[in-house]
Amino acid sequence: MIGRAFLVGQRLFRIFLLLGMVGWAGWPVPSLAEPSVARQQELIHLLRQDCGSCHGLRLLGGLGPPLLPAALNGKSKEYLENVILSGVPGLAMPPWNPFLSPEETGWLVDRLLEGIPE
Ligand code: HEC
Repeated sequence: MIGRAFLVGQRLFRIFLLLGMVGWAGWPVPSLAEPSVARQQELIHLLRQDCGSCHGLRLLGGLGPPLLPAALNGKSKEYLENVILSGVPGLAMPPWNPFLSPEETGWLVDRLLEGIPE
């Protein structure tokens, strides 16, 4: 009996250990998701050149609407990320998911919402 209880206890202990590791592994993900400094520079370049070709080099608007913080005020991060990744079917806004990961898009939306320095 004692041996059996010990084995069950040991099994439970292992399960908790595993859950603990999974929980722990889940933790640092948000900080790991931030693009590297080199990739951040590429993303800002893409924003100015590629997005800028429609939204204006200074994002003041052109074929596409302005992407300055004041213009995006009140629009949810989720909506903005979705427009960027999936595009707007039937309109000129192309989907960027072949070029941008969800994490990179989230990072870009944060930059747009706070305004990127000139
Ligand atoms: C070929 C032209 C074109 C390019 C390139 C382009 N966009 Fe757009 N974008 C548009 C148009 C047009 C709209 C407006 C769609 C609509 O009216 O719903 C739009 C809409 C948006 C919106 C929604 C704005 C709002 O106020 O609802 C966001 C955010 C956006 N674009 C971000 C980007 C980003 C970031 C890039 C570069 C990765 C990019 N766009 C590249 C044409 C473009």
